[in-house]
Amino acid sequence: MRTFQQHPGDLALLCCLLLLPPLLSHGADIPLGSTLSPGRSASWTSPNNTFSLSFTPSPTSPSLFAAAITYAGGIPVWSAGAGAAIDSRGSLRLTPNGDLQLVNGSGAVLWSSNTGGQGVAAAAVQESGNLVLKSSTAILWQSFDHPTDTVVMSQNFTSGMNLTSGPYVFAVDKNSGNLTLKWTSGSNTVTYFNKGYNTSSTGSKTLSLPTLTMQTNGIVSLTDGQLASPVVVAYSSNYGESGDMMRFLRLDADGNFRAYSAARGSDAATDQWSAVADQCQVFGYCGNMGVCSYNGTSPVCGCPSRNFELSNPSNPRQGCKRKVDLQNCPGNSTMLQLDNTQFLTYPPEAITETFYTGITACRLNCLFASSCVASTALSDGSGLCFLKISSFVSAYQSAALPSTSFVKVCFPGIPNPPPSPSR
Ligand SMILES: *[C@@H]1O[C@H](CO)[C@@H](O)[C@H](O)[C@H]1NC(C)=O
Ligand SMILES: *[C@@H]1O[C@H](CO)[C@@H](O)[C@H](O)[C@H]1NC(C)=O
Ligand SMILES: *[C@@H]1O[C@H](CO)[C@@H](O)[C@H](O)[C@H]1NC(C)=O
Ligand SMILES: *[C@@H]1O[C@H](CO)[C@@H](O)[C@H](O)[C@H]1NC(C)=O
Ligand SMILES: *[C@@H]1O[C@H](CO)[C@@H](O)[C@H](O)[C@H]1NC(C)=O
Ligand SMILES: *[C@@H]1O[C@H](CO)[C@@H](O)[C@H](O)[C@H]1NC(C)=O
Ligand SMILES: *[C@@H]1O[C@H](CO)[C@@H](O)[C@H](O)[C@H]1NC(C)=O
Ligand SMILES: *[C@@H]1O[C@H](CO)[C@@H](O)[C@H](O)[C@H]1NC(C)=O
Repeated sequence: MRTFQQHPGDLALLCCLLLLPPLLSHGADIPLGSTLSPGRSASWTSPNNTFSLSFTPSPTSPSLFAAAITYAGGIPVWSAGAGAAIDSRGSLRLTPNGDLQLVNGSGAVLWSSNTGGQGVAAAAVQESGNLVLKSSTAILWQSFDHPTDTVVMSQNFTSGMNLTSGPYVFAVDKNSGNLTLKWTSGSNTVTYFNKGYNTSSTGSKTLSLPTLTMQTNGIVSLTDGQLASPVVVAYSSNYGESGDMMRFLRLDADGNFRAYSAARGSDAATDQWSAVADQCQVFGYCGNMGVCSYNGTSPVCGCPSRNFELSNPSNPRQGCKRKVDLQNCPGNSTMLQLDNTQFLTYPPEAITETFYTGITACRLNCLFASSCVASTALSDGSGLCFLKISSFVSAYQSAALPSTSFVKVCFPGIPNPPPSPSR
């Protein structure tokens, strides 16, 4: 472990160091009392400059800044307070009593490591990308234990931790080791992905502390004290390839969980595996009442019919709204048919919204239930009908889907124009 040392001959320098705190710290321990601020382009770096902690413009508001650890080239792997943004007068400070705090211009502490008074003597950014707060003998806090949306090589992502991105949460289930993806909004939670890998070795066991890692060779694996050997979750497309690169796992803003690799110095990462193979099956990808479909291989978002318009025309992912609200046409609504379309229904909604009825009852039962906004008859031989009574619904349209859906609109229903030949 490196420690902050002073040589007697440096006394002359010491005066100036005290007057002028170090702007750049190449791998050295960061002493208590150090501060990073957005105004001065300073950073705290790892010994070989592989990772650095500095302020970067907030993606949502360029006049604000987030304190982020980035890989050489600029790919962010962690941020203080899950991307909490401060103005240019704010700072990230390691207080004299050992607390790391993100402070905005008004002096409000937006995030803290909560390590004040626990014996922290210095901070350091390690070559692995881990930001540690340590005493002279031990690591007391590390960013690897508080991930934001990314897991890098040599980082242990254990059950009990979460990755978050907008409304999406990724976690490893503590008993089964299943990878889970959830969409949350207020008290609503929908689990749209829940998958076990190599259940022949995990299925019969209750795991103790399943841990997901990205190996340096590109294999994504799950380890646990109850397992004789790691379970392979996925092979990156380029697994086994070596080179000066970083591999990482990330919960993306589109609700998918992916493996990536990025060459040192590059700001672009290449995806090597996606947990959800079909992006349109990510709940909420096209917002409330939005319909996900494919234009070639790209998912695109649209509205169920011309009774709707995009909530935000410049961002189709924010969903659709009715041009006339259902309350404004009591007794005069209709169920407009949407072919090859499914309203996504996952746990726990699947429990309350699933019925065994034919297609006509699936349409009429929704029409006559005031809380029902849409319905889907699966038409896949299962005899299942979903009656959508939730306040947020998400749809998927594809020529390959046998389902027929109905959406409740004020009379008359106005279908979308037929898809153009390019689709
Ligand atoms: C830094 O790079 C040098 C030269 O490539 C290497 O020998 C050394 O092990 C690296 N240090 C760390 C901490 O990775
Ligand atoms: C600082 O944070 C507080 C609390 O979130 C907020 O009320 C205030 O507007 C922020 N000030 C600046 C300058 O961002
Ligand atoms: C990850 O887990 C392994 C095995 O338990 C452990 O040896 C290693 O120190 C952990 N790494 C970090 C950064 O916590
Ligand atoms: C992770 O998210 C779940 C909800 O999905 C929440 O109950 C839990 O407290 C979170 N855990 C952490 C460590 O943030
Ligand atoms: C884990 O995932 C499998 C599907 O891969 C599923 O059958 C099983 O019910 C899941 N287990 C839990 C506890 O959710
Ligand atoms: C699943 O796990 C078993 C037992 O650890 C192992 O023998 C087998 O090769 C694994 N299968 C796959 C496809 O990885
Ligand atoms: C579909 O993709 C083509 C080619 O990329 C593009 O020209 C067209 O505008 C796209 N259509 C939609 C509806 O996004
Ligand atoms: C339903 O609405 C349509 C169009 O607004 C109108 O022409 C029709 O008379 C209405 N029917 C009833 C029963 O209110």
